[in-house]
Amino acid sequence: MAKIIVTGGLGFIGSHTVVELLAAGHEPVIVDNLSNSSAAVLEGIEKITGQKPLFLQLDLKQKNQVTRLFEQVPDPDGLIHFAAYKAVGESTEKPLEYYENNLGTLVYLLQALRDRGLSNLIFSSSCTVYGQAEKLPITEESPVVPAESPYGNTKQIGEEIIQDACHAHALQGISLRYFNPIGAHPSAEIGELPLGVPLNLVPFVTQTGIGLREQLSVFGTDYPTRDGTAIRDYIHVVDLAKAHVIAVERLVAGENQQAYEYYNLGTGTGSTVLEVIQAFEKVAGKPLNYKTVARRPGDVTAAYADTTKANQILGWTAQKTMEDALTDAWRWEQKLARARAAQAE
Ligand code: UD1
Repeated sequence: MAKIIVTGGLGFIGSHTVVELLAAGHEPVIVDNLSNSSAAVLEGIEKITGQKPLFLQLDLKQKNQVTRLFEQVPDPDGLIHFAAYKAVGESTEKPLEYYENNLGTLVYLLQALRDRGLSNLIFSSSCTVYGQAEKLPITEESPVVPAESPYGNTKQIGEEIIQDACHAHALQGISLRYFNPIGAHPSAEIGELPLGVPLNLVPFVTQTGIGLREQLSVFGTDYPTRDGTAIRDYIHVVDLAKAHVIAVERLVAGENQQAYEYYNLGTGTGSTVLEVIQAFEKVAGKPLNYKTVARRPGDVTAAYADTTKANQILGWTAQKTMEDALTDAWRWEQKLARARAAQAE
């Protein structure tokens, strides 16, 4: 059993990772500033696992709160760092806030680990570091290209910061490069809670399906793909969460081959936007209202993972399909709708 600090542990991927850590017999400690999450997520975690992990409401972009974290949890075996801003468009309007929050926090956490003789950091990175890769599927050998947005840049620079720190100090880290995380816990006790109008495809699809949004816009039908729409690798959030447990266990056990490692996390299968819509219509048993519009600036044509490295070295493979993820995302959206209806009564 390992004690693992999970920053951003009430967020979408963080909360699912807390559940998988508990299921594997570990002791997660959740840290979250609730800037884009809700304390109610703790109840969902408790319903699924029957356990209530320690929750500390701290804002880790303030260095004194990082100090407070390690005063309260002086002996963690590892740290999984999810806490970050994640809206691509917003990051172009508020680049300094993105750099401060996403990178300042990371530096403080690494300093705190180093200064206390601790180690073992798992970092949320993104396939966005590859931009439009020349070769598909995308291996870890694919070059990292200049980021399209300050958000993407925080992921690239974050990886470099960890790599440099692991080379200079007695620190060990793993960056996990996610493709497109979607879905929800099959219990529908936790899931994605987008603030305002969703920017990502699947929450927009399920909100349109439930009637919260009038119509989905499909961004671009002139991509050089099988049906003209862009291709992504949609990975179930529970599969992704399990990869974090494996990665942190690897560091805690000292099984890593290098002080700093990085892995792609995807299913290896690409789906077009229209294929996602068709799969949703099948799951929901009704047509989705959508229209086709121009491409969204900054979008790449196709990105899907070569997962050989994670398969062979971590022993991790995604178990669930895009259809499984849509089934769970839809169940979650329906549950949110029931909760809203009950509140309105
Ligand atoms: C986006 C970010 C990526 C980030 C990830 C985090 C961009 C360019 N990339 O990935 O850096 O790590 O979110 O969640 O923003 N689509 C529509 N209609 C919609 C929404 C999306 O057609 O209303 C299409 C997009 O054009 C894209 C696909 O659906 O082809 C997936 O989009 P999205 O869910 O936003 O993810 P990415 O853009 O791949």
